[in-house]
Amino acid sequence: MSDFLSQARALLGDTHVLTSDLAGYATDWRGKFTGVPLAVCRPADTQQVAALVTLCAAHSVCIVPQGGNTSMCGGATPDSSGQQIILSLSRLNRVRDISPLNNTMTVEAGCVLQTLQELAAQHERLFPLSLGAEGSCQIGGNIATNAGGVQVLRFGNTRDLVLGLEVVLPDGQVLNLLKALRKDNTGYDLKHLFIGSEGTLGVITAAVLKLFPAPRSRAVAFAAFQTPQQALELLGLMRGAMGDRFTAFELMSNASVAMVQRYFPASPALFAMPYPWHVLMQASDGGEQSALDNAFQAALETALEHGVIDDVLIATSEAQAKELWMVRENISEAQQLDGANIKHDIAVPVSSVPAFIEEVLPLLHAAYAGVRPVVYGHLGDGNLHFNVSSPAGMSTPHWQAETDRVNVIVLDVVARMQGSFSAEHGLGQLKNHEMAMYKTPLEIDVMRRVKNALDPKLLMNPGKLLPN
Ligand code: FAD
Ligand code: MLT
Ligand code: ZN
Repeated sequence: MSDFLSQARALLGDTHVLTSDLAGYATDWRGKFTGVPLAVCRPADTQQVAALVTLCAAHSVCIVPQGGNTSMCGGATPDSSGQQIILSLSRLNRVRDISPLNNTMTVEAGCVLQTLQELAAQHERLFPLSLGAEGSCQIGGNIATNAGGVQVLRFGNTRDLVLGLEVVLPDGQVLNLLKALRKDNTGYDLKHLFIGSEGTLGVITAAVLKLFPAPRSRAVAFAAFQTPQQALELLGLMRGAMGDRFTAFELMSNASVAMVQRYFPASPALFAMPYPWHVLMQASDGGEQSALDNAFQAALETALEHGVIDDVLIATSEAQAKELWMVRENISEAQQLDGANIKHDIAVPVSSVPAFIEEVLPLLHAAYAGVRPVVYGHLGDGNLHFNVSSPAGMSTPHWQAETDRVNVIVLDVVARMQGSFSAEHGLGQLKNHEMAMYKTPLEIDVMRRVKNALDPKLLMNPGKLLPN
């Protein structure tokens, strides 16, 4: 291995092949997985990525691509063998082109998502991908996980926002698919193989992204009600009234909101009395603020009059809108501070969400007295973060030992409702085992055939996505 390391140093420079102080790279965001990397390699551009991957292939060294390291399922954490390198994309952070006329930008994989949102705004455009980790996750990581976030309802997943890709294949060749086209039916659309492949098929080095007109106005409200069924009715009502202007619809149980208020005491006060369920919703468009406000308020008044919601707080300023959003965005961090929880990222058809919640909650309470479900997520997409915190007083190791049993309770209902056991975070090393339970043998076999065709030496992110 010393031969490999000295050749890697010759390629990248001594300061970009790190073998000490690796803690920030070796542990995942949730602190659930810690690996032992052989080294952290930090190439500067696509050519250096290609040279490094070629070197890895020659020495049979496995590669774990890493972006912002915000994966919720240990996707960017190596194993404990000390034989795998982390390939950090952080230095590939150039914007190669931005074209307001074509509504596209061509960017390198290590650009931080928030930087790209801000760049688009400077050109009076919107890059709509938006999620709690946007200040540190990278566009390459977003593409590799096909990230979702809070505006999928209107703009789709990351997959829907990518027009072109540049990928370094596991043998070191550079596959250039960087076209800025809206239409191109010239054979298999290869970029889609790499979107959502979690670093198992190649290293994404650059992408062409779609831009949209920048919104000039936005309206935000927090509504409170008694049952998830009311949330579904509200979704129908708001979409009917606002059409394409309706961009986000996020469900939060009272436990989720209370957790944020406990760990972030500066959070805004919401309602005079507690309600079991809340949604945060948003509309935006390119027209006058007053016109948007009028339509939004009229729809919410109808919802109140018909008993679809019990109370509502409409933001009266941009500052208040941001405060309301922070309640939603701080849930993950509050859960992290609160301690052990068994995390799920499930999807069912949007219309089945209330039935799903009503079926699973009693099953959990029957299995574990005092269990604390923390349910929130992207109701507009049928995607819930159905997290389960330990019953009060139960130790973290004891609760973690229950993971498989809790998973079966939740995920068997998901499967029965034709849902997904991983809607937007991917599989990584946390959920790849569940493939064997919830995917058909033929689906897994076809995935393995794709993997073997592109990465016959199995060097790219082993132990992730596919079951071992
Ligand atoms: P990493 O964590 O570094 O890597 C993720 C996976 O992608 C790994 O398998 C890695 O090997 C691979 N990878 C990374 N870069 C590349 C590359 N250039 N080429 C090939 N493979 C690569 N996710 C959502 O979908 N929706 C949310 O709303 C959401 N909210 C979040 C909120 C918080 C507070 C946090 C911490 C995470 C959240 N996530 C969410 C999960 C996570 O942020 C996203 O999945 C994000 O897209 C990961 O980006 P990253 O750059 O951090 O990738
Ligand atoms: C979110 O929607 O907040 C994220 O996907 C992260 C999480 O599951 O907590
Ligand atoms: Zn989410």
